[in-house]
Amino acid sequence: MHPSNEQWLVFFNAFKRRTGLDLNYYKQDQLRRRILSMMESRGAKTLDEFWTKLASSDKDLRWFQDKLAINVSELFRNPEKWVELRERVLPDLLARSRTLKCWSAGCSYGAEAYSLAITLDRWFPGSHRILGTDIDQAALAQANKGIFNDNDIRGVPDDLRRRYFLQTPEGWVADSGLRRYLTFRTGDLLADRFDSGYDLILCRNVVIYFNDEAKDQLYRKFFQALKPGGVLFVGSTERIFNSQTIGFESTMPFFYRKPVGDLAWRNAS
Ligand SMILES: C[S@@+](CC[C@H](N)C(=O)[O-])C[C@H]1O[C@@H](n2cnc3c(N)ncnc32)[C@H](O)[C@@H]1O
Repeated sequence: MHPSNEQWLVFFNAFKRRTGLDLNYYKQDQLRRRILSMMESRGAKTLDEFWTKLASSDKDLRWFQDKLAINVSELFRNPEKWVELRERVLPDLLARSRTLKCWSAGCSYGAEAYSLAITLDRWFPGSHRILGTDIDQAALAQANKGIFNDNDIRGVPDDLRRRYFLQTPEGWVADSGLRRYLTFRTGDLLADRFDSGYDLILCRNVVIYFNDEAKDQLYRKFFQALKPGGVLFVGSTERIFNSQTIGFESTMPFFYRKPVGDLAWRNAS
């Protein structure tokens, strides 16, 4: 079945009215393929029929949203970047503020936020705060439990694994002491207003779903949300091509810094 653009728009508008999430900002080929395969798996013949099914059950709507937002993650994903973060980025940030305000944007079930909590607690303990946000509520509920599977923790070095995780029949349970750094809450990166004053924002493997316009707007909003000297840490396939136009400086791949000198006025938009 190949719905027309008009039919897709009707579906997206209905979805946005109900959930607030605007699917027009997602990469369309990938998104539409995924929706059609979900539609087929539920035996719906048209988008209209599929929407009627989804709209009549909160549970089915949740299922759809969760499936849409693929939330694969693991602790210390791309370990070499975490070493750079620990050895080069965090010391620089801590030279400026003793207490870091950090945000894992698109945190899924929390692996990234816990990786940061472990890094800070082990090497730079203090009263740092880490906010984790995602649109996927099921993933956030999991993040709040702090329980991970074997695959999630395969990149955690042995000494950190021994120190911060307890193996139980339910999985690897993170040390409750890490909770003092962590807060998780729902947030839509495409629709919400952002808080400001962040020292560090991690947004990794999230924008792969977004179209170029959405990505550009998001990076500009992150720039505004950072303190001067603050750093945006992106995923290992997510170079920001117009980073200089936005105002960032990049001294290491995948870390973008808001300059300390006031360049921000030139790029405020
Ligand atoms: C592949 S996971 C990345 C998790 C983690 N950052 C990492 O790199 O391992 C992508 C996450 O982005 C979230 N996401 C997608 N669109 C979003 C949006 N508009 N606002 C907030 N989160 C979103 C998804 O729900 C999913 O949990």
